[in-house]
Amino acid sequence: MARVVVVTGGTRGIGEAISLALKNAGYKVAANYAGNDERAKAFTDRTGIAAYKWDVSSFDDCAAGIKKVEAELGPVEVIVNNAGITRDATMKKMNRQAWDEVLDTNLGGCYNMCKAAWDGMLSRGFGRIVNIGSINGQAGQYGQVNYAAAKSGIHGFTKALGQEGAAKGITVNAIAPGYIDTDMVAAVPAEVLAKIVARIPVGRLGQASEIARGVLFLVADEGGFITGSTMSINGGQHMY
Ligand SMILES: NC(=O)c1ccc[n+]([C@@H]2O[C@H](COP(=O)([O-])OP(=O)(O)OC[C@H]3O[C@@H](n4cnc5c(N)ncnc54)[C@H](OP(=O)(O)O)[C@@H]3O)[C@@H](O)[C@H]2O)c1
Repeated sequence: MARVVVVTGGTRGIGEAISLALKNAGYKVAANYAGNDERAKAFTDRTGIAAYKWDVSSFDDCAAGIKKVEAELGPVEVIVNNAGITRDATMKKMNRQAWDEVLDTNLGGCYNMCKAAWDGMLSRGFGRIVNIGSINGQAGQYGQVNYAAAKSGIHGFTKALGQEGAAKGITVNAIAPGYIDTDMVAAVPAEVLAKIVARIPVGRLGQASEIARGVLFLVADEGGFITGSTMSINGGQHMY
């Protein structure tokens, strides 16, 4: 039986590539998104993958979302926590709302999704969780105390939950992407982006499909001995 996977933020950017790669590998994929109905519809029309709208920062919405996916596709055995946002500002200008939104979505979303699926994974003795962190959670970044804190938190979360799942057949790993060519990076001013690319040893931005390859590797049934790890995919920019 094909395993059911939920990819949060799975309708565009890195998440879209992950959803597609998993579908092509034979998984039954549910792609979650927050509010961009137009992009979600285009994604479903193009790929045939079902899109599910809910806000990962809401504990109750995640519980209801997992329930709905399970009713329609079957028990959720794999989760890719990919949904993420930025609200960049220097500390001088960063207000409490920008802090809360990023922490609640990027890190709170991870907790909400894992919590909603955890008991089912425990009872079936199998689970694969991949959390998408960031190079900026490993190395920090100017103007991103909220984002760096949330992503750094994801790496700690992964190591802690990995310990809880280890003897139960559940692996929990993270991927820390470097700069990937998506809408999120397109929002960075061109002159800043040129400086960023100049610091990437491989000499270019990464492609979303290059992150998806890592996810496929980590969620495989054969990956039972890999847990609590962080896979850095960043063109050599930061060795961690
Ligand atoms: N791009 C990079 O260079 C880079 C580098 C390191 C790490 N990352 C991380 O990789 C992940 C994907 O990044 P990306 O560049 O592909 O982002 P993106 O193109 O901006 O796409 C973000 C996705 O997340 C969804 N989303 C946002 N908030 C959500 C919420 N509250 N509930 C549910 N879904 C939500 C969006 O849904 P809608 O379409 O409905 O808005 C969208 O599908 C993020 O966690 C990001 O931090 C990205």
